[in-house]
Amino acid sequence: MNNAPIGVYDSGFGGLSVWRELRRLLPSESLVYLGDGKNCPYGGRSREEIEGFAYAAVERLVAEGVKMVVVGCNTATTAAVAALRERWKDMPIVGLEPAVKPACLGSRTRRIAVLATRHSLESDMFLSTAMRYAEGVDVVKVVGKGFVEIVERDMETTAEAKEAVRRVIEPLLDRDVDKIVLGCTHYPFLRPLIREVIAERDIEIIDSGEAVARRVQWLLERYDIAAAEDNVAECRFLSFADEEYRRRLELKASKILVNDVAL
Ligand code: DGL
Repeated sequence: MNNAPIGVYDSGFGGLSVWRELRRLLPSESLVYLGDGKNCPYGGRSREEIEGFAYAAVERLVAEGVKMVVVGCNTATTAAVAALRERWKDMPIVGLEPAVKPACLGSRTRRIAVLATRHSLESDMFLSTAMRYAEGVDVVKVVGKGFVEIVERDMETTAEAKEAVRRVIEPLLDRDVDKIVLGCTHYPFLRPLIREVIAERDIEIIDSGEAVARRVQWLLERYDIAAAEDNVAECRFLSFADEEYRRRLELKASKILVNDVAL
């Protein structure tokens, strides 16, 4: 038994989509969420830069006494998870990868789309790990242009957001894609708008949040570090940006829990 918190880290608000799944599946676990905010978006940055941000983030979470870190960011995972595991050898570090495997296995049309940041889609990790499962399946790679900025500004319900989503999703509709993988943790915040564009078409939207929460649960058991069932979980929010950003993080998290922000 270990009632220490689990650390969750993202470039900004996106990892809250993973945070929600952790809250749902593991209600006894305390969580410390660190949304960088200062250096977001990561998507167009170099691997070295992102690795530096990820190091600083995990260092901060370790200083908060976490027992495990979830890198709730596909971009930071592709850039830095290997280096993080090398540096913090005794602490489980869970990374996030686009759900290419289940999408490929379940695809009838043998064509899927993966939406992610430029950095993730161009990374070696994506090419080697995710694409391993794609044999015989055509993978259309698409950057969700503007999506991260929209979520960071709480603009998911605006006409601008609608237009940005339409511009990215509409071209996919003529390409016989039957799965859309959300390979960036910010993108689930735009799921309602993506659904609107897809309308009646038989296209499934898949993200990795739930699978990551199950992996965390498995690791807690394996390392025997799960919190006691009667532990009163505490959720805290940190950021490298200013106090206003940190408060917005906290607010968004509370809205997610009462379904005021749809995912
Ligand atoms: N939430 C992120 C991801 O999962 C990073 C987005 C960004 O900062 O560009 O890839």
